[in-house]
Amino acid sequence: MRLLNGFAPHSDTVDVHESNIIGTQKGKRMTRRVLVVNGPNLGRLGVRQPDVYGHQDLQTLREDCERWGRDLGLDVEVRQTDDEAEMIHWMHEAADGAIPVVMNPAAFTHYSYGLADAAHMVGDAGVPLMEVHISNPASRDEFRKRSVISPVATGTITGLGFFGYRLALEAIAHIMGE
Ligand code: DQA
Repeated sequence: MRLLNGFAPHSDTVDVHESNIIGTQKGKRMTRRVLVVNGPNLGRLGVRQPDVYGHQDLQTLREDCERWGRDLGLDVEVRQTDDEAEMIHWMHEAADGAIPVVMNPAAFTHYSYGLADAAHMVGDAGVPLMEVHISNPASRDEFRKRSVISPVATGTITGLGFFGYRLALEAIAHIMGE
């Protein structure tokens, strides 16, 4: 069964790592860990274009996501990198461990087929991958109007600031709890 752009909820064929299982609901497995990964220049939040990305920094985003995760019963780990290879390796880790992902691919959104292929593997592992953008790229420069990640994401949230990450975590909790 393949639903939601490749996400197969609770597929019996998915080999979920025991370390990710926090219990079962109606006989279905639940995964607890969630990776929240952020791409290039998002380490500069609070300093970089505050008119677009706001005045709050990455540490605030990290604390927000961890708190929202706790509220939702998710063990959230927030990461940031300027390195495309590192981001791709994180997707391999998520795919191998069947760990759901919230991803703000930043500028990689618009050109990284390597990251898109890696994100596809997360969906293939049977767990959701939510794409988040703080700004609304569709309302900005021409080159930001295309995302190579959206076609392989379970869903995309844009233009809502840090709140978009909260909605993405809620979506993951909802999907994993179904
Ligand atoms: C961004 C939008 C991208 O176009 C941009 O390259 C970023 C951040 C956002 O969160 O709005 O770095 O992903």
